[in-house]
Amino acid sequence: MAYQNLREFLRYLDRSGQLVRVRQPVSVDLEMAEITDRTMKLPGGGPALLFERPVLMDGTESDIPVAINIFGSWRRMAAALGVDDVEVHARRIAELIKPEIPKGLWGKVQMLPKLAELARVPPRPFKGRPPCQEVVLREGEFDLTRLPVLKTWPDDGGPFITLPMVITADAETGVQNIGMYRMQVFGPDSTGMHWQQHKGGAGHFRAWKKQRGGRMPVVVAIGGDPATMYTPSAPLPPGIDEFLFGGFLRREPVYTCKALTADLTIPAQAEIVLEGYVDTDEELAIEGPFGDHTGFYTLEDPYPVFHVTTVTMREDPVYPATLVGRPPVEDVYLGGATERMFLPLARLTIPEIVDYHMPPEGVFHNLVFVSIKKEYPGQAFKVMHGLWGMGLMSLAKVIVVVDEWIDVQNTAEAWWYALGNIDPERDVRFTKGPVDDLDHASQIPSFGSKMGIDGTKKWAQEGFVRRWPDLIEMSPEVKAKVDRVWDRLGIEPID
Ligand SMILES: Cc1cc2nc3c(=O)[nH]c(=O)nc-3n(C[C@H](O)[C@H](O)[C@H](O)COP(=O)(O)O)c2cc1C
Repeated sequence: MAYQNLREFLRYLDRSGQLVRVRQPVSVDLEMAEITDRTMKLPGGGPALLFERPVLMDGTESDIPVAINIFGSWRRMAAALGVDDVEVHARRIAELIKPEIPKGLWGKVQMLPKLAELARVPPRPFKGRPPCQEVVLREGEFDLTRLPVLKTWPDDGGPFITLPMVITADAETGVQNIGMYRMQVFGPDSTGMHWQQHKGGAGHFRAWKKQRGGRMPVVVAIGGDPATMYTPSAPLPPGIDEFLFGGFLRREPVYTCKALTADLTIPAQAEIVLEGYVDTDEELAIEGPFGDHTGFYTLEDPYPVFHVTTVTMREDPVYPATLVGRPPVEDVYLGGATERMFLPLARLTIPEIVDYHMPPEGVFHNLVFVSIKKEYPGQAFKVMHGLWGMGLMSLAKVIVVVDEWIDVQNTAEAWWYALGNIDPERDVRFTKGPVDDLDHASQIPSFGSKMGIDGTKKWAQEGFVRRWPDLIEMSPEVKAKVDRVWDRLGIEPID
């Protein structure tokens, strides 16, 4: 079932015991982050939190509650996307992209429900007054520092909006992109706009600067239905509409409306909307530092300034946020959902991939385990180079390839197998390419080296002349026999 907006999702979380309401005043200045970080590090990701009495940086109380960690468990992440398990969507995507021509009439009939489902999902204009525009505040009537925006780590440059949908359009085609890019609140009507250079928003900025110059409209929606709130964090190929993807996940359209001051389409169910522009001719401003999802501070860097000219909101908005920092935090589940749902897309071009996994300690771009069905010599290297050529996967710093029988979701198993199988000089290769802007170790910002590890079993055709040992496995008969008596042996874990 698809939730229509954030408050409906919060009601579900509350009813199902997945939300803790924090009723005492808590400061947005570090205290909320400390409570949230401890919560997120509880087994399974801890509950979602609703801070009902946020205390602002100046010590006054805000009447806008803060919802945080709403995606912070597998159960909540799946529920946000309207399913019990995100694998359901992975299977739907695999079905959708299956390059198969239906055989005969029966095959065509079987495709009809799939087509009907797709016809339902394009975004649809909201009928009546959009909830996100119940209150309209023009220049001089709003002050962004009155929003309960968290400052999360001691050396942060200030408070940062962390769960936004940043909406921009291509200067020529008008095709929209929505990205989740953090925004440092600089003052009452301006923020930073931290779209990294490899991302959609930054591409729009560069194109606009080249083709038109001057002010590029930007609208930021905060809150909405939970599936739509997730989509800007997904690395959709350029030109694929986030609202369409949101509709696919929801199995019903994302309801939209026009922004008041820009020709941009926004989610009608947002809680708060910031409308404005970035001036592509204006000098960039220093953004950061920011305690980032890498577990390190991202140092100050120049980024565009987002000038806010109009704020619209619901009459009683809720402000959603997340906290990033040392893993694991909420982005394990946001990124994890992406990992699962994008596997079929990776397989479309690299079909020998059985599974892949980006463990939390690798913060997505530092480490990727891949298991493959190896059928010819050197295939592990083909796979890693394929991944380094694919969208944001190109930023992966270390890729470890193992054979199909290894469960890469179990990183201990994947490391054990790969480390046992490598002769480092023979099986490790370095190459170069773009690295994530957040990588603090590359010699040059955003450009550095990558390491590929071929942890597969080596073949004679690959020049391996010794005998390769089998993995140790107990015989199935003995296992079955012990299975039958195991419960009677009284062997239990001890402390
Ligand atoms: C909580 C969170 C915060 C993020 N912050 C940023 C950010 O500040 N800058 C950035 O470029 N990407 C950030 N990302 C990653 C992007 O949202 C992600 O790469 C997404 O694919 C970008 O969309 P795009 O491909 O349409 O640009 C963040 C992701 C999450 C989950």
